[in-house]
Amino acid sequence: MRNALRCTFKGCRLLKNYGVWREKLFMTETADKQARLAELVAKVAEIPPLPSFIGQILKVAENPISSAEDLNEIISRDPALTAQLLKAANSAFYGFPNKIGTVSLATIILGFNMVKTIALSSSMIKLFKKTDKATQLDPVQFWDHSLKCAVAAKTLAGHYKYVVGGEAFTAGILHDIGRVALAHYAAPTYERVTAYHREKGGYQIDAEVEILGFNHAEFGGYLLKKWSLPPSITEAVMWHHQPLKAENARELVALTHLANYLCHLAAVRKKVETEEPVLDRGVWEILERTEDEEKTLNVLLEAFDADLGKSQEFFRILHGEQEGKPHVSGASK
Ligand SMILES: [Fe+2]
Ligand SMILES: [Fe+2]
Repeated sequence: MRNALRCTFKGCRLLKNYGVWREKLFMTETADKQARLAELVAKVAEIPPLPSFIGQILKVAENPISSAEDLNEIISRDPALTAQLLKAANSAFYGFPNKIGTVSLATIILGFNMVKTIALSSSMIKLFKKTDKATQLDPVQFWDHSLKCAVAAKTLAGHYKYVVGGEAFTAGILHDIGRVALAHYAAPTYERVTAYHREKGGYQIDAEVEILGFNHAEFGGYLLKKWSLPPSITEAVMWHHQPLKAENARELVALTHLANYLCHLAAVRKKVETEEPVLDRGVWEILERTEDEEKTLNVLLEAFDADLGKSQEFFRILHGEQEGKPHVSGASK
């Protein structure tokens, strides 16, 4: 009995110690991860900041008492953005028969959210346009996937009546920003990820975690946080591969995850990609309870395909004058 008591006592102590060790281990692991992340962010410090007018546009567009005039005042200071907005408003995507000649009218037609999206997306595209052979990240394929994911997110936002469709589009366009940022600004490190993936196979995201200790989504979220982008978009980017980890913007995160999944699923069905994408079925708990997943996915894919068809011109506008070849790809996850 005394032995048993002693044993129990010892066991308690061990258990208690185990708890402390585990906590220490977890804290060390988290601290290590944070340190590696901070180190990489320092490495990518040369990523230019977003142009200041982008921040102003985001601020005005998100202020419920702002008027179209407030937005025009900022936009008209940037001729390239002015031209892009006019092109977007006149594109078939919006289907207006009469020519839209002023920024004020374009802003009304596009809506604040879309103006914000165009400004943001075109800045990002400019930031990460060059090709990086070492990491084999093709910018055309990369932005093609990003834009498709944006369209899918908008389709899903409409389907699930998510009120801020523009926000979903933005989250879609930015979802893999961490990958392109790593590939361009921390190329030697990311090259190790690519080499590991080539050698071991499996999913690229697993290779990232193996080599870096975190994935491109977490890195992207970190970057957007640094750029002070809206928390909901930051969260959607950060958890687009682990949607159930989101704490606040759960619906937007689920939409972004599903949008990314749909893009890859469509590519697999068209035999453009071979790697089966991964769906976290927890998103159905957030978006809708589905009895027949296959049927639901087919309905969503059909709606996405229809929106994709209408978006080709819009893609060209965001890509800039020199691009615009319609292409299908599967470069990113
Ligand atoms: Fe991703
Ligand atoms: Fe992706």
